[in-house]
Amino acid sequence: MRQYPSVTVFANKHDASRQLALDVSSLIYQLNQSDRYAVLGLATGSTPKLFYQELIRLHREENLSFKKVITFNLDEYLGLPKDHPESYHTFMREQLFDHVDLPPAQTHLPQGIVDDVEQHCADYEKTIAESGGLDFQLLGIGRTGHIGFNEPGSPRDSRTRAIELDELTRRDTAEAFGGLDHVPTHAITMGCGTILGARRLALMAFGEAKAEIIRETLEGPITDQVSATFLREHPRSRFLLDPEAASALSQPLPPCETAE
Ligand code: PGA
Repeated sequence: MRQYPSVTVFANKHDASRQLALDVSSLIYQLNQSDRYAVLGLATGSTPKLFYQELIRLHREENLSFKKVITFNLDEYLGLPKDHPESYHTFMREQLFDHVDLPPAQTHLPQGIVDDVEQHCADYEKTIAESGGLDFQLLGIGRTGHIGFNEPGSPRDSRTRAIELDELTRRDTAEAFGGLDHVPTHAITMGCGTILGARRLALMAFGEAKAEIIRETLEGPITDQVSATFLREHPRSRFLLDPEAASALSQPLPPCETAE
């Protein structure tokens, strides 16, 4: 019987990001060849930056096109306007959208400023479903074990909703916001159930600060206290780690050889 998730330790975060970008570009190509749009779930944070840089390079140098790609981001801070420097709208424009041929109408993020949050979340779910569901979901992991902003206590079947951010999550981003007082207290996030509905999932984690939560995620009990543990129940989930993020695993995996 297959053991999942698959866990690969790369020599460094550059190799991991390059490999994932190559795999995602193949997926886009395959789906487009069979006349389908590729529906990609995207993530923000420091972890996916090199992955986006590599997608941009593939677009510029290897003819990778995003014209038949539809994207859905995991989350957005509640209360931030789109053009706030720390909004995820701004992040995605700067890190990817402004540099590739992805039509803006095919990109989706939860809105930070919205009148009826519940309706907005229900609409977000509906748009994902109407697009055919997520072919792929990219994930980072917070030190609380969150995927998206599914903080401890997020049920396995949760859907897109507003959530109160964990204190540790807020502290981890305080510097970017110029102090804890400026960090939003709430966000809108895809739920664990929304994320697990993706046909393929990849979680990247780099650096020593992630070592302990990666150990808990892969070796601890499957629990809503660490939402990333739910990935262990998904047959097409992968973890891409650097040696530092893998360093607390009880049986550290050797770095893999990556094709140049
Ligand atoms: P990071 O955040 O990539 O900035 O470490 C990951 C997360 O909180 O999901």
